[in-house]
Amino acid sequence: MEEDRLLSSESTSEDRGMETSIRPSDFAHYIGQDAIKRNLKVFIQAAKERQEPLDHVLLYGPPGLGKTTLAMIIAAEMGVGIRTTSGPALERAGDLAAVLSSLEAGDVLFIDEIHRLSRHVEEVLYPAMEDFFLDIVLGKDDTAHSVRLNLPPFTLVGATTRAGYLSPPLRDRFGVISRLQFYTPEELSLIVRRTASVLGTEISEDACLEIARRSRGTPRIANRLLKRIRDFAQVEMGGTIDRKAARVGLQRLQVDEAGLDRVDHQLLRGIIEKFSGGPVGLDTLAAAIGEERHTIEDVHEPYLLQSGYLQRTPRGRIVTDRAYEHFRIKKEG
Ligand code: ADE
Repeated sequence: MEEDRLLSSESTSEDRGMETSIRPSDFAHYIGQDAIKRNLKVFIQAAKERQEPLDHVLLYGPPGLGKTTLAMIIAAEMGVGIRTTSGPALERAGDLAAVLSSLEAGDVLFIDEIHRLSRHVEEVLYPAMEDFFLDIVLGKDDTAHSVRLNLPPFTLVGATTRAGYLSPPLRDRFGVISRLQFYTPEELSLIVRRTASVLGTEISEDACLEIARRSRGTPRIANRLLKRIRDFAQVEMGGTIDRKAARVGLQRLQVDEAGLDRVDHQLLRGIIEKFSGGPVGLDTLAAAIGEERHTIEDVHEPYLLQSGYLQRTPRGRIVTDRAYEHFRIKKEG
């Protein structure tokens, strides 16, 4: 295999239609997010025809929907390199200067969790994004002076779970702003089938759909469930994943019929049992169920809100009738 890959330098396995990585490496293998894909393809083709770097791109949406994957695909489709970092990793202006000056013309700089950049680093980033230069202050007090560092033109791809966390001046400097959507069960089913094929695992069509249906619209969850169910299937059920193996595995992983996991249960049942269904403030709720406020907000709430188990009101979170029905709990009063 390895030898084969080394010898055939002009075509990769992916080119020949064989998929070798769980992460798709081009648009052709990226399932879902059709509207974003269609537009990005146009922007990329237009930039390439003009021999310009692609305008800066902001990708936002709940975790696990493929923001990092899309950033890598953008670089691959542009035919440029990519450097990856994150908001919290860029502590000082010098950290940003170091990554920016390592870029080659046209490269993509991917900054994950870009809402966590410090205000100071953010301000250094503005002229870099707009005019491709950095003003760096050297020395201290009396000897302080600034030097201008010219940068190669580059594309910043920023990712965040919430565009609302970004300061308006930073958000305004992105020419493309795309919000990723939760995936449909049908799309997730195709992703599960593709991942199983990459992993070399035999899986039935109805097992793909069963996992897809219970993955909360999120490829990262679908792929994680698939890998664990594959473990159960391998050790206890003869290897192949059929619908029964999928259902047994999902039960062992404490994922219920609707795809809600233990934390989702704690959250919804917590509101019902400890706060009579709400409204309850986020901090009070977080303390009551022993979860981080931000984890609840960024990881668990988006799907519960979108699928109608939970509502946000000015006075706090309330569970809906759908949540009561899900747990077969009778609503008081
Ligand atoms: N794996 C994770 N996300 C994917 C996607 N959107 N398409 C194909 N495979 C994936």
